[in-house]
Amino acid sequence: MKLHSSDNSKTLKMNHRFIGVLLILWIGVWSLKAQSYENASQHQCLKCHSKNSYTYMNTVKGKEEHRLMNPYFVLDTVAMASGVHKQFDCTDCHSSEYASYPHNGNLKLEPMNSCLDCHGGDESFASYHFERVEEEFKKSVHYKAYGDNFSCSKCHSQHTYMATARNSSSVKDIVDYSNKMCLSCHSDMKKYQLVSGHENPQLVKVHDWLPNQELHFQHVRCIECHTEVTDSLMVSHNILAKEQALKNCVECHSADSKLKASLYKYQNLQKRSEDGGLLSVLSNESYIIGTHQSPLLQLASIIIFLAVVAGIVIHSMFRIFKK
Ligand code: HEC
Ligand code: HEC
Ligand code: HEC
Ligand code: HEC
Ligand code: HEC
Ligand code: HEC
Ligand code: HEC
Repeated sequence: MKLHSSDNSKTLKMNHRFIGVLLILWIGVWSLKAQSYENASQHQCLKCHSKNSYTYMNTVKGKEEHRLMNPYFVLDTVAMASGVHKQFDCTDCHSSEYASYPHNGNLKLEPMNSCLDCHGGDESFASYHFERVEEEFKKSVHYKAYGDNFSCSKCHSQHTYMATARNSSSVKDIVDYSNKMCLSCHSDMKKYQLVSGHENPQLVKVHDWLPNQELHFQHVRCIECHTEVTDSLMVSHNILAKEQALKNCVECHSADSKLKASLYKYQNLQKRSEDGGLLSVLSNESYIIGTHQSPLLQLASIIIFLAVVAGIVIHSMFRIFKK
């Protein structure tokens, strides 16, 4: 297509400048959530899908047009860059026909791979027990109500998912990440209605028997009260009916807390508390914001630092040789 081929040389030049700008951004506002991406091959999609507006060539009128982008089609490139599928190009999962715009209407009919299509029966992912997860999920209220229309992707974005419970060393991060998955729908009227066709119950009202609600939602996951703990799985996936939800304070507020077998069972958390004891985590004594350091983040910042240095060296070499 015209749009695509005539764009290539421009894209290359743009990328060069873009990478420069990116590096500066990284050094400066590394911690801010700026929209950015490294992988140049994704630029063909992200030049539109990471912005609030997009530009395309209207070949009938023979001129460029600007439009607003559907906000649900704007991707979070920062979250994608740390997701489990960060190595993928867009067109590994989506048809390469998307490279042209306007997109072909038939692409809406394209079947997408489910988690199990790729991960089912694969030895290298055995520790995640995908098949067991699916089994449990199929017993959940969501699957019972909506069947295959409630896919894994309703909770797990294939773009951004991170295995947080397994890898994070902070209770707060684990709780926050997990609860956001539920709240992305349960407190978003549009998304909830898309699935159910009716309004969502007010979560605050539903839980008004629980004192310090906000504090609880920051310290325990929804699934603590809404699933049965399964030993064989890291994260239990069988969301029970509301009548079976946990309401008994003592289940958590006791020496023999249920949380020891769920939220606090993770080795990554236990490693953190110096004496290896559960109780210090349980009483939250060991949790002080900023004391936890993620080795992954440290590695990432080293890699980025080296990339910056390499970028500067290569850039100045070009300057010298061009002269
Ligand atoms: C010129 C801007 C532009 C480019 C480039 C672009 N898209 Fe899109 N894309 C859009 C817009 C706008 C929509 C909203 C629906 C529409 O207008 O067709 C969309 C919709 C989509 C959808 C949702 C379709 C649906 O209806 O559910 C997917 C998936 C998608 N694009 C993937 C891609 C991929 C993958 C690439 C790169 C190979 C890409 N797009 C490149 C602008 C673009
Ligand atoms: C690992 C596979 C995978 C990769 C890689 C991937 N996508 Fe997707 N994408 C999906 C799936 C699955 C859906 C449908 C989500 C659903 O069913 O709700 C989707 C949906 C979309 C949508 C529709 C909006 C939405 O979120 O539902 C857009 C737009 C889109 N992808 C663009 C992209 C772009 C651009 C890239 C590259 C930067 C990309 N995707 C990379 C799997 C992928
Ligand atoms: C198109 C095939 C495909 C689909 C669909 C897919 N994955 Fe993946 N996934 C992969 C591949 C390949 C890797 C390995 C990536 C790597 O090593 O960089 C991976 C990596 C992962 C990992 C990290 C594994 C590890 O070794 O640490 C998790 C967790 C994961 N995927 C979960 C999911 C979930 C949940 C879904 C559904 C929402 C899903 N995947 C859908 C292909 C897929
Ligand atoms: C109702 C929401 C929901 C649905 C639906 C759902 N999951 Fe999950 N899943 C979660 C939550 C919450 C977590 C915990 C997130 C974290 O911290 O890693 C999780 C974690 C996972 C993990 C990582 C567990 C580990 O061992 O590290 C995998 C793998 C997974 N889900 C696969 C699936 C598959 C496959 C499906 C569909 C059959 C599915 N999930 C459906 C909410 C859901
Ligand atoms: C401390 C335990 C606990 C926590 C944490 C908790 N819930 Fe609940 N939840 C319950 C109980 C118990 C009920 C049943 C209340 C009743 O019927 O009076 C319930 C009811 C519900 C309902 C049913 C609403 C209705 O009436 O149809 C939904 C949906 C729900 N919770 C979602 C969530 C979400 C999402 C989170 C995380 C943000 C969460 N819950 C956290 C215990 C909890
Ligand atoms: C994509 C939207 C969506 C997501 C994500 C989602 N839910 Fe739901 N959930 C629903 C809908 C819709 C219903 C109503 C089901 C029905 O009509 O019976 C529901 C029902 C429930 C109920 C009440 C069941 C009953 O007996 O009435 C609970 C509890 C619940 N969800 C918890 C969760 C938890 C915990 C998570 C996160 C792990 C989550 N949900 C993620 C859409 C969602
Ligand atoms: C799923 C486990 C769980 C359940 C069920 C639960 N709690 Fe909690 N509760 C917690 C956690 C975790 C905290 C946060 C502890 C902290 O602040 O370090 C907390 C905090 C509190 C606090 C605040 C304590 C403070 O330090 O300010 C009160 C009060 C409280 N819970 C009362 C209750 C009551 C009453 C019930 C029953 C109606 C209940 N909780 C049910 C886990 C639970």
